[in-house]
Amino acid sequence: MPESNIENRKSKIPPTAPSAPTGVGFITGALTTPVSPAEAALRPLSFADFTGQPRTVERLQVMVGAAKRRGEALNHILLSGPPGLGKTTLAFILGHELGKQVRVTSGPVVEKAGDLAGLLTSLEEGDILFIDEIHRIPKTVEEYLYSAMEDFRLDIMIDQGPNARSVRLSIPRFTLVGATTRAGLLTAPLRSRFTLQTRLDYYDAATLVGIVKRSCDLLKVAIDDSGAEEIASRARGTPRIANNLINFCRDFAQERASGRITRAAAAAALELLEIDARGLDEMDKRVLRCMAENYRGGPVGLGTIAVAVGEEAETLEEVHEPFLIQEGYLQRTPQGRMLTPKGYTAIGLTSPGSVQGGLL
Ligand SMILES: Nc1ncnc2c1ncn2[C@@H]1O[C@H](COP(=O)(O)OP(=O)(O)OP(=O)(O)O)[C@@H](O)[C@H]1O
Ligand SMILES: [Mg+2]
Repeated sequence: MPESNIENRKSKIPPTAPSAPTGVGFITGALTTPVSPAEAALRPLSFADFTGQPRTVERLQVMVGAAKRRGEALNHILLSGPPGLGKTTLAFILGHELGKQVRVTSGPVVEKAGDLAGLLTSLEEGDILFIDEIHRIPKTVEEYLYSAMEDFRLDIMIDQGPNARSVRLSIPRFTLVGATTRAGLLTAPLRSRFTLQTRLDYYDAATLVGIVKRSCDLLKVAIDDSGAEEIASRARGTPRIANNLINFCRDFAQERASGRITRAAAAAALELLEIDARGLDEMDKRVLRCMAENYRGGPVGLGTIAVAVGEEAETLEEVHEPFLIQEGYLQRTPQGRMLTPKGYTAIGLTSPGSVQGGLL
């Protein structure tokens, strides 16, 4: 299946967390809207092209190598991690490396057991079924998935009342690749049916610089090493954000600078998007400010923060919070979210705790 078809299909799927237009949040937009064809063109197609995530890549390479050598279907794989780090990209790479088709769907789209049956019976031996946002698959469908994954069969009830009977469908040996931004929401029985569960982490700056340069090469965008470093340092460890920032920086460089993305041009462009040197955008800062000013740094519940800043709780939890926690601006405690001293500094305030600590 040509990649463009797959992307078209994906673009009909509503974004993970539709959020009310807030007027801020380039980052939210980049991470919650479906993949554009321009972005899909930047996708690495093989392991050789995919940089970063060394552990995950090595695990996948081992499994692909073994499956090919034995002429068997790959075992089921669960990819988890924050949005924009390459889960979908890796699913396509697996298909490409195995020489098999990848069928794409998304948890909420598979509404009934019949939808699942339709998808599974259209597969050929060894094909990959990629279920994005697998944590959102309805519970009633999930139970059918168990026997499909384990025994490659589906027992479907047809008809109702006295005529009701169960029909057994056998399905080709396929590989389920599940992707989720919320691995914690998967039920234990589903999770245990994946042979490999692997988590993608934010990319380090050096790897992101390489990704920015590769994308600029493909897009024929003129960029300096220092410009690539500037974009990478503000892309919060996320290739999808880096790729999106390149487009705006290119426009900015053309309109306001020499046409080449230098460090100065990139920095000015990203300031204009209200993305600061740490990669924090307006929404991140709203969250931090709200916690400092209204809740004395917490603990405060996520739902409360969401209402105060005018964003969906789900979007905050999937898009903003992982980075804020990873970088140490926020902490998650059993009582709620807490602002850290680093969080106070990021919004130009001093943590009350640190003053106290100094006195003691
Ligand atoms: N390791 C990488 N090297 C180069 N580009 C990458 C890499 N990982 C991701 N990308 C780029 O980032 C973009 C986003 O990746 P992808 O769509 O696979 O993320 P995702 O994890 O599936 O996100 P979501 O959870 O939002 O679906 C891709 O279009 C691809 O161009
Ligand atoms: Mg994806």
